[in-house]
Amino acid sequence: MSQLLEKIDKTRLPRHIAIIMDGNGRWAKEQGQDRLFGHFHGVESVRNIVEGCAELGVEYLTLYAFSTENWDRPEYEVVGLMELLVNTIREEVGTLNKNNIRLHVIGDMNMLPDYAKKELGEALEITRKNTGLNLVMALSYSGRWELLNAVKNIAHDVKEGKLKLEAIDQDTLQKFLCTSEFPDPELMIRTSGEYRISNFLLYQLAYAELYFTNVRWPDFRKENLYEALVDYQNRERRFGKTGDQLKTESNGHEVK
Ligand code: IPE
Ligand code: IPE
Ligand code: MG
Repeated sequence: MSQLLEKIDKTRLPRHIAIIMDGNGRWAKEQGQDRLFGHFHGVESVRNIVEGCAELGVEYLTLYAFSTENWDRPEYEVVGLMELLVNTIREEVGTLNKNNIRLHVIGDMNMLPDYAKKELGEALEITRKNTGLNLVMALSYSGRWELLNAVKNIAHDVKEGKLKLEAIDQDTLQKFLCTSEFPDPELMIRTSGEYRISNFLLYQLAYAELYFTNVRWPDFRKENLYEALVDYQNRERRFGKTGDQLKTESNGHEVK
């Protein structure tokens, strides 16, 4: 067994891991290949990491696959990515089902081509009853798009008299996000040496631990995930409190 895997405390795993899968284009360029070659190889990393999370018993894995801003990339790359997405879903849905994995999608689905919407819709339906890992694909997603959408829908409900202005609290807002059914991620990983959020889960990452690695996404494997988890478990999550407060709370005493 991997030494890193042994170091992971299975009782303190994050329930939800979110990943910005970045670096496919540079990985390909470094080998004198076209960017699409990198995306193609990125699929192997997705398979490996989904398997790794399912084996560990992680409940939710959100993968940032395509941002609303990525629509502005050259057309051949956008088309290539959509085709790769559709083919991958078609090929993998059987394995997802076999492994009791439920697929979810978050993002502006209206932007996707019809053939992609159809394939995704079928995969969601086929895996709907599965109770193992929840695999959330962020597609045509951005945090600002999601928040804007939530604000519009809340305003609509207030206008229609379905919701009282005074009754709006954080729970209301949470219910209007695409992630309303999922807990917030405790750990966010970004590959490829970029230190930014790039419009990913802006609201939900409020207290997530952030982990950055130089490894490009097509090279990212279970061992890299374990490394991130060991790092995560060595951190103190304080949520605004003091370190002393946390220590005393875990002893069962309260500090005033
Ligand atoms: C991430 O890799 C995949 C998508 C954004 C679709 P990139 O395509 O961003 O690769 P780099 O960052 O240009 O290397
Ligand atoms: C973020 O990566 C989006 C995805 C991984 C899907 P980008 O490569 O699009 O982000 P920037 O442009 O480097 O911020
Ligand atoms: Mg990138």
